[in-house]
Amino acid sequence: MFVSENLSVNEKGNLTIGGVDTIDLVNQYGTPLYVLDKDLIRKNCKKFVKSINKHYDGNGLVCYASKALSCKEIYRIMKDEGLGVDTVSIGEMYTALSVGFPAEKIYFHGNNKADEELKFALENKIGRIVVDNLQELKRLSELAVKLGVVASIMLRVKPGIDAHTHDFIRTGQIDSKFGFAIETNEALEAAKCVVDSKNINLVGAHCHIGSQILDVDPFMLAAEVMIDYINDVKNSTSVTMSELNLGGGFGIKYTSNDDPVDYENYMEPVSEVLNKKCSDYGIKTPFIVIEPGRSLIGPAGITLYKVGARKEIPNIRTYISVDGGMTDNPRYALYKSKYDALVANKANLEKTDVVTIAGKCCESGDLIGENIKLQHAEAGDIIAICATGAYNYSMSSNYNRILKPPIVMVSGGKSRVVVKRETLKDLVRNDI
Ligand code: LLP
Repeated sequence: MFVSENLSVNEKGNLTIGGVDTIDLVNQYGTPLYVLDKDLIRKNCKKFVKSINKHYDGNGLVCYASKALSCKEIYRIMKDEGLGVDTVSIGEMYTALSVGFPAEKIYFHGNNKADEELKFALENKIGRIVVDNLQELKRLSELAVKLGVVASIMLRVKPGIDAHTHDFIRTGQIDSKFGFAIETNEALEAAKCVVDSKNINLVGAHCHIGSQILDVDPFMLAAEVMIDYINDVKNSTSVTMSELNLGGGFGIKYTSNDDPVDYENYMEPVSEVLNKKCSDYGIKTPFIVIEPGRSLIGPAGITLYKVGARKEIPNIRTYISVDGGMTDNPRYALYKSKYDALVANKANLEKTDVVTIAGKCCESGDLIGENIKLQHAEAGDIIAICATGAYNYSMSSNYNRILKPPIVMVSGGKSRVVVKRETLKDLVRNDI
């Protein structure tokens, strides 16, 4: 009935998340409201960690891709669960370090890292810098020499794989702004350049083939291509790469049409490909890193809104206007992403309507979704959008000077604010 395992209906007919009544949450914290189920996040972390340990004999690390949601509490959870983190800016690194996240388990990505960011990473002994291009390599080497440190790096490689997902979130194919292409030999040449660079230690290679991928084949193919690459590097330079980061991208269930692969069913075949390839080449299986973002936290979240208006346009559509929108969830506007929705205070009723859920921005494209099946909703009802834990808060904005909602976490039947609701003062804090 629900897309996420932590959702249910109680005796009042209200939607619950992690056993907590969503209407109680609305009464206590207001709307719009992001709610995250900490217990489910922890469960997902444990599943990934168990699986990687099993298939790589403890020779692997799960890194949470924190672009999916970056705030202090999420780094605390990941630290506690023994994960590493993937960061893409000084802001993400800073937030992670601010809660004492171990620097050596932080990976720093990005296709255009500023000098300030590279310097910050070196000074704070960030574990790995994933180098995207030769200009970056040169700047990093110069900075490392100046600071008298050695940078441990990985090379971001484009394995040239089409992962059949939305164009905007596909990053592994050759026409991509990220990384060095294998097909054109650019990636091999890059490895040779690294070997000649001062104060740079080439540890391994990284790839990320896309996001919201719902089958295993592209991951298996990527693993194969990456081992070929590592073998080529070994044969053309003096370097044996000891680490392989295969990125993230594991899909989740947004609607009943999505059928994601279980972690275990991903880890097993990919590890088989890797181990076989390595033994064929006579090389040791590298230390394996994966970087799930969405799959760790997406299903753990929902967003709750209050309906302000219902507008029926005969023979065209019915708009249900809510008190948030593209400012807290821009994914429909950006990717036409689909979501499952329900009226949280009528969760035990049939979904009889098909509606368009609209946000409150001064913009026609400000929609949460079209053709959404929903219980009959009127002004004052509470709408829940499911599986919004990833890429919602982290992609939110203040367009129209709309305040960002708070994040509340539920755990063991209790709730707690982990990110406060923005205030009007917050909005003008940098205005002069
Ligand atoms: N590692 C790297 C290098 C990445 O670029 C990404 C995502 C991940 C890991 C995590 O991917 P995940 O497991 O979350 O799929 N804003 C888009 C998603 C962009 C993903 C970008 N990179 C969305 O809302 O769907």
